[in-house]
Amino acid sequence: MDISTSDAAWKNVECNWLVVGVTESPDLSGPLGELDTALSGTISRLIEAGDLKGKLAELLPLHDAPGVAADRVLFVGLGKSDELTRARFEKAAMSAVRKVSSKADTSAAICLLGSGIGAVSSSVAAETAATAIVVGSQGQDSLKAEPGHFPLAAASIVVSDGDQSETAAAVERGTILGESINLTRDLVNLPPEIIYPESFAKRAQAVAAELGLKVEVLGQSDLEAEKMGALLAVSQGSSSDRGPRVVSVSYAGAGEDAPTLAIVGKGVTFDSGGLSLKTSDGMITMKCDMAGAATALGAVAAIARLKLPVNVVGYMGLVENMVSATSYKLGDILTARNGVTIEVQNTDAEGRLVLADVLNYAVDKGADKIVDLATLTGACVVALGEEVTGAFTNDQEWCDTITTAAATAGENIWQMPMFDHFGDLLKSDVADCRNIGGRWGGAISAAKFLEKFVEKTPWVHLDIAGPSFASSNSSHREGGSTGCMVRTLVEAAASLAE
Ligand code: BES
Ligand code: MN
Ligand code: ZN
Repeated sequence: MDISTSDAAWKNVECNWLVVGVTESPDLSGPLGELDTALSGTISRLIEAGDLKGKLAELLPLHDAPGVAADRVLFVGLGKSDELTRARFEKAAMSAVRKVSSKADTSAAICLLGSGIGAVSSSVAAETAATAIVVGSQGQDSLKAEPGHFPLAAASIVVSDGDQSETAAAVERGTILGESINLTRDLVNLPPEIIYPESFAKRAQAVAAELGLKVEVLGQSDLEAEKMGALLAVSQGSSSDRGPRVVSVSYAGAGEDAPTLAIVGKGVTFDSGGLSLKTSDGMITMKCDMAGAATALGAVAAIARLKLPVNVVGYMGLVENMVSATSYKLGDILTARNGVTIEVQNTDAEGRLVLADVLNYAVDKGADKIVDLATLTGACVVALGEEVTGAFTNDQEWCDTITTAAATAGENIWQMPMFDHFGDLLKSDVADCRNIGGRWGGAISAAKFLEKFVEKTPWVHLDIAGPSFASSNSSHREGGSTGCMVRTLVEAAASLAE
């Protein structure tokens, strides 16, 4: 999408919707004051009457706006200026974009102050606004006769009193981030009849071709040759045209001697639970179980398009977890790629089996640092709720890099402990370990399981079971896939490049 930038005075911008952020008790001396004058004091009157309070993400549309070039004005609350953060600004921008994109063929301009607001600089605001324009105008309802959101016919970001080249660069970055997030969202939102291992792999190949990236796709016989016995067991219940794939997409932005970041994603394109069958309610959203793989692809695409000076490989472990006469069974003992034997005690704990082999593959392929993303456990959602990603690590410094990146990106990550005793829960009488850890601390025992397959490579596991998929629409965010962690991964890659 093309988002233009402009330094016009706000009142002179021609568009259907002029979006203007307003803090609580706003300063009416600058551009907002000029707009107030052009609107014959409407803003002052609305504030006076208590109709325009500036509460975070509160919207106030002005459908008739004589005195300005735009057809309408949309005021959006930014909350208290000294409490503004990137995440809050994003919430406000997303609410506004979702409002103005609800009709087709709409043009909109988002007005920003060159001085920034509170802790949010002008360029962070411009980047965030651009991302919001791209993400907020795309819904999860592309297969509906009457979709709820439409890409804007024209969009611009207006900073009348700022550095125009800085704004343009920020808008370009924000657009790339938004489009990469939408790539992730699209893949997750499409139904499992459309996105299965083979079709996901084809899409990854198309993305790689478009961006000039190296791509490798391993199918059933390659995975057998690789001895990926854990991943293959999960895929056993699927028919042959729904067989497994492991995809790697490589971007070489730095020299051969520079370290390689591996981004590994769980790509269970549908998780029925297998013979440990889920309930119908528990299965409804299980097309989302490939969100980790979709996030890995979105992040590598973003990093490549932003031309960051780093080497990154995205690894996607793609399988279905289905029920059939050939499904893997409880009591089966699998041999993972690294030789570790695993007793299957629950076929619904399949994500860790897939990741075990793909993590080990990434290590062998020369990963210097690993981050994996997985909709791994309901337990993580119980622990942290629906909007926080759980982080687990074997290397505190690398984990700090990821959590700092998340803070910069405005995303929520919380680190969980990795005490030894959680590992003891995985003991088996008949194999090196079992694939479940018992009733309590399930997100941590799952992470302890994964740790067995990364050797000593610095590794962070991100459990995105909660935040990657929203059960319903809200005013600031479309339901379905959220594309969470794409921005955090981009920030982390950028910080490795420094
Ligand atoms: N894909 C699920 C986890 C999940 C749950 C993702 C809710 C998104 C929303 C995973 O494969 C799973 O089923 N995990 C089990 C593990 C258990 C059997 C040890 C779970 O969380 O119940
Ligand atoms: Mn499962
Ligand atoms: Zn799963």
